[in-house]
Amino acid sequence: MSIGLTLSGRSRIAGVMGWPVAHSRSPRLHGYWLQEHGIDGAYVPLPVRPEQFTAALRALPMLGFAGVNVTVPHKEAALAAVDRSNPTARRIGAVNTIVVSTDGTLDGRNSDGFGFLENLRAGVAGWSPKAGPAVLLGAGGAARAIAVALLDSGAPEIRIVNRTVERAERLCRDIGGLLRIVSWTERASALAEAALLVNTTTLGMTGQLALELALDRLPTAAVVNDIVYSPLETPLLAAAKARGNPVVDGLGMLLHQARPGFAAWFGVEPIVTPELRRFVLDAAG
Ligand SMILES: NC(=O)c1ccc[n+]([C@@H]2O[C@H](COP(=O)([O-])OP(=O)(O)OC[C@H]3O[C@@H](n4cnc5c(N)ncnc54)[C@H](OP(=O)(O)O)[C@@H]3O)[C@@H](O)[C@H]2O)c1
Repeated sequence: MSIGLTLSGRSRIAGVMGWPVAHSRSPRLHGYWLQEHGIDGAYVPLPVRPEQFTAALRALPMLGFAGVNVTVPHKEAALAAVDRSNPTARRIGAVNTIVVSTDGTLDGRNSDGFGFLENLRAGVAGWSPKAGPAVLLGAGGAARAIAVALLDSGAPEIRIVNRTVERAERLCRDIGGLLRIVSWTERASALAEAALLVNTTTLGMTGQLALELALDRLPTAAVVNDIVYSPLETPLLAAAKARGNPVVDGLGMLLHQARPGFAAWFGVEPIVTPELRRFVLDAAG
């Protein structure tokens, strides 16, 4: 699909604020849906320096924006800057979707956990978070969103495995629920009897260190998901697939997390299709 925007004086405008933002695939993703639905609107990259973030956000209603996504490094600052946030965003401690209300106030939400759950539901038929213990590698922003989503949808236990134990402790303190900390050196034994393994660290990403993890203790029925999507098949996913585990890559999380924002700004519920996946992946080539 080629992106040919037709804008009028009534166009709805949204975008993504990040620093840097040039690598973001969100403009391409939302552009696809805008074109697919013939919407008079645009979704633009907004490179905003951290020290100017709050001022830029506050300008959105004055500029007539319908809202924005917020990405690295602004997600925590966004929670503090919005006028209202929902309980999920507050538990996570971060906002990734902002909707400008009709009265000009800013409404902050977080759709990362939604994107994570929808990706697994779409990737493995019959998948349920209730199936058994989940192991999360990492305790950063993405891990917080995923832990909240899993707990709220009935995961019986979540094992948090993080290099920096203080960060894992902070996550458990903030989020509460059936969370258990396992030290990074014990990560292989944390996999025993798990129903789900998710890598939320940056390990395995192109240009980053490798994730070293022996999978011997992981049941072969356990679903393995890597939220790193560059490369699409990370070494973790390749190793899990080779031993028979169902695997789900991370691109779908990015695609599904975008749905609530698009629906709020442009008034259409978009869907994630294989064509959309291919279109967004082409951006990398
Ligand atoms: N698919 C999607 O839609 C999606 C959405 C969000 C994020 N992501 C990806 O998820 C990854 C994490 O994002 P984030 O926002 O959570 O980042 P973050 O807040 O910076 O957290 C990074 C995590 O990686 C761990 N880590 C980094 N280097 C490590 C190393 N050498 N050894 C062990 N652990 C290490 C950190 O552990 P310490 O606490 O010990 O530093 C921390 O747990 C990124 O690759 C990001 O692109 C994907």
